[in-house]
Amino acid sequence: MAQKLFHLSRDGVSLLIETTKGTPNVIHWGRELPAIDDPPQYLIAVTEPTPHGLFDESHRAGVWRENARAFLGQPALQGHRSGRAFSPKFELVSATRPSAHELLFVSRDDHAGLEVSLSYELTESGLIKIRSSVTNLGAPADQTDAGQATEDFTLNGLMAFLPLPDHATDILDFHGRWMRERQAQRTKISVGKHVRESHEGRSGHDYTIVQFATTDNASFQNGEVWGLSLAWSGNNVHTVEREMVGRTQIGAGELLLPGEVILAVGETYDAPTVIATYSNQGIDGASDRLHRFQRARAAHPTNIRPRPVSLNVWEAVYMNHDLAKLTALAEVAGRIGVERFVLDDGWFGARRDDTAGLGDWVVSAEVWPNGLKPLIDVVQANGMEFGLWFEAEMVNPNSDLYRAHPEWIMQADGRTPVEARWQQVLDLTHPGAYDHVLGQVDAILSEYDIAYIKWDHNRPITDAGHFDRAAVRAQTQAIYRLFDELKRRHPGLEIESCASGGGRIDLGMIDHADRFWASDNNDALERQQIYRNTSIAIAPELLGTHIGPTKAHSSGRTHSISFRAATAMWGHAGIEWDVTEASELELAQLAGFISFYKANRDLLHSGRVVRVDAIDENAWSHGVVAQDGSRAIFAYVQLRTAKQILPNAMRFAGLEAGATYRVTQVEPAGAPGKMQKFDSATWIHGVEVSGAWLMSAGLRTPILQPEQAMIFEAVRV
Ligand code: GLA
Repeated sequence: MAQKLFHLSRDGVSLLIETTKGTPNVIHWGRELPAIDDPPQYLIAVTEPTPHGLFDESHRAGVWRENARAFLGQPALQGHRSGRAFSPKFELVSATRPSAHELLFVSRDDHAGLEVSLSYELTESGLIKIRSSVTNLGAPADQTDAGQATEDFTLNGLMAFLPLPDHATDILDFHGRWMRERQAQRTKISVGKHVRESHEGRSGHDYTIVQFATTDNASFQNGEVWGLSLAWSGNNVHTVEREMVGRTQIGAGELLLPGEVILAVGETYDAPTVIATYSNQGIDGASDRLHRFQRARAAHPTNIRPRPVSLNVWEAVYMNHDLAKLTALAEVAGRIGVERFVLDDGWFGARRDDTAGLGDWVVSAEVWPNGLKPLIDVVQANGMEFGLWFEAEMVNPNSDLYRAHPEWIMQADGRTPVEARWQQVLDLTHPGAYDHVLGQVDAILSEYDIAYIKWDHNRPITDAGHFDRAAVRAQTQAIYRLFDELKRRHPGLEIESCASGGGRIDLGMIDHADRFWASDNNDALERQQIYRNTSIAIAPELLGTHIGPTKAHSSGRTHSISFRAATAMWGHAGIEWDVTEASELELAQLAGFISFYKANRDLLHSGRVVRVDAIDENAWSHGVVAQDGSRAIFAYVQLRTAKQILPNAMRFAGLEAGATYRVTQVEPAGAPGKMQKFDSATWIHGVEVSGAWLMSAGLRTPILQPEQAMIFEAVRV
């Protein structure tokens, strides 16, 4: 281990780690550095002065942030062995390079009987995957209290941290709730901790997905950003912490409940992977890295097939399942070009409303006397594949399952947890419960030709106990295992992760599910914000975006098809509306939208997503630019009326500055409403100008009514 300085660099990003003090210490994460030919010079550059009033030598505690190394904030690893081993000090035992873009550091504290490892993998898209683990080696004999079982190590938490430079001044993260997920919040970094925690037992509506530190007022296009995401669907914590001495770090980890992880001798805890994203091209640059990372996975849905246009019947019929009505719906859907028809909640057990039936995944003989086949036949005859809804981590007390196995719910200390939506959480860490769910879901998938399942999780988990011991981690692992097993048994099966809308969208679930339902709020105006922020972390093709009814069920607002379509276009698009009630004109507009979408989904699902920094937040524009810069589709969205009579010029982003583009307006689903005497020339004739012009001067748009949007194509000529 003669080497003391380690450098990973790729795609504009560098990570520099020094080990001179016997522990790995990250001294740079950010802008790419040239190859380092004189390591000592860098070590001189980072040597800090030794101030009065603190320790007698300069200390950077390194990645483990041990108190024993004079670190005064929260250590990366916290735990104890019946009160002992509370203050470990890890000495590096090996530093290796498992591959050209990966570093692995293993450290040990023999006295505490703990071994820890940290690996950093710099991916092709410039993200760093951080994996950390702790192994209980067992307490040395002289430490154990005679006659007491003191060898277990109780882990309170294991987080990964990266340093932020002093010019990172701001925090940007996202909070939310049912119906309004992923609202941006910005705050200045100050001394102390800014902490985002989720105790929901799922990543949660309030889950940030990514937490950024940024330079002053960084925007979509400008500034430096450093983001961390926990690839995990259970409880989580994200934090930015500035110590009193002035150093700042960003960290993320699994939030462990008391006693949730107790390591017996020889056991290892592998923390969920933390994904670190740096960009010096604003938030969009970080977003692009996250999208490219997702798209590089072999199992990424668009690497397998184009995303089928879906129709989900939830807002059309709710739980009033009726073959004649659904047949009519399927016929209209097939006629306008829908490719997947999804039967939502209400098909099973005694599920005539949401007070009963969860747990009994057997087709209701009352509603479906001949099973689901008659409907599936109609769906397939109309050129569509079939999808079905489940929420099999849950149970209604009013169900056969609960009556037979009341002991299969998560609970603590013999209490029955507070109900939410009249349901309890099934304890999937109980082998009987797991087998029941797997068996019943598998039986349905085996009996019927089902391409896709929408899998819901409609309540937070409280009292998340398995035989009174905390089990969110094990429950999370169980649902991953269950999804993987269902996919193994039914090759090609797609799973959508839904949790009362966007309550389980995270970078852990992307490896087990193929789509996320972003929100139960299908009002196109509200969706603009939800989509804009959720798509920062998640590639658009993974986000379900549906055209809802004319009058939104969530808000009561009324929107044109043109606006609803211009909103739904940017993800994995679909319809969630009783289209049997649509007029012929509306159906023609839907068909127009669907054929435009099909013709362009290759671009929409592979290009670079760009969000133009708004001058007047009453209007947004955003788009997708082909990776080779040859084509783009943009939206101009008038959320509210503009401040002045003439709206600001619409600027583009992400184009090739030196190329010429022909920009034309397209109206796949009808014209937006306007507030003007005449159209401007641009929109009647199209225009050919340079990418540089479009990105700086921009184009004069028509004056749109509020809650209207325009779509246009830019093609390099
Ligand atoms: C949740 C989902 C909805 C729908 C209902 C069914 O609220 O988010 O899309 O599936 O459950 O009960």
